[in-house]
This record gives sequence, C-alpha cells and structure tokens, in this order.
Amino acid sequence: MTKISDAALRRLEKSARSAATRAYAPYSKFPVGAAALGGSGRIYAGCNVENASYGLCNCAERTAIFSAIAAGEKLIKAVAVFTPTPLPTAPCGACRQVINEFGPDAVVISVCDTKNRIDTRLSALLPAAFGPGDLD
Ligand code: THU
Repeated sequence: MTKISDAALRRLEKSARSAATRAYAPYSKFPVGAAALGGSGRIYAGCNVENASYGLCNCAERTAIFSAIAAGEKLIKAVAVFTPTPLPTAPCGACRQVINEFGPDAVVISVCDTKNRIDTRLSALLPAAFGPGDLD
C-alpha cells in the first residue's frame, strides 16, 4: 500500500477547497471541489460542471481525474473532495467507478466546512469492483 506524505495530502485538500470556488452549479447550487494526486506527484483540480441538460452534469471528482489523465498521468494515488457542508460527502457511485479505473488503491479524503472528515480508500468505498482486469 503506497504511503502518501501528510504534506501532500494537505496540499490535495487545499486544492479541492479552492476548486469549489470555480464550480459551475447554477441548477443544484451545490458547489463541489476535488483534487487528484497523480503518480507523478502532480495535483489536478476539478469542480462540478453542470448543464441545462441535467444528465450531462459532471462531478468534481471526474473533472479532476479526467484532467490528470489528459495531462498524461497513468495512476491516481489519491483523491480529495470538498463540499461546503457541515458533514463530509463521499464520492458518488459513478465517480467511485472512475477512480477505480486508475487508482484501485487510491486514498480518498472528504473534507467540508467543519472539522468532520472521512479518510478512506477506494477499495473500502467500492468493494469487489469491476475493473480493467475483468476484461482480460
Ligand atoms: N457532485 C459532485 O461533484 N461530486 C459528488 O461526489 C457528488 C455530487 C455534484 C454533481 C452535481 O453537480 C451536484 O453535486 C449535485 O448533485
């Protein structure tokens, strides 16, 4: 299991918090920020991007992960998500599946407006995941 430094995780959380300020969420009015730590050590931020055709809304986590992959990352080591709520929220099912594709062992952190937080791993959020290996 990969050990990620506390400093790197703090930077990831900070990036997720700041990304929420860029959310495009006029329909839900629920801004979300996320940040993905790539195998290279670089951090990629993302926010939710909604659409008037509601089904096309993209979660903050997927925005961050797709940015990382588009930049050339092959592995996602950790994902942080920030919601401006009293309690932290874990990634939705679709985002768990997308994290699994690139980071089945990823650390997943959820932070919010209070000190409440969730520190977990993708393998705990999505046990018995269907992934790339199942297609071999
Ligand atoms: N959302 C995220 O960005 N991440 C999550 O983990 C849960 C939900 C977004 C999608 C939509 O824009 C809004 O929050 C309300 O569901």
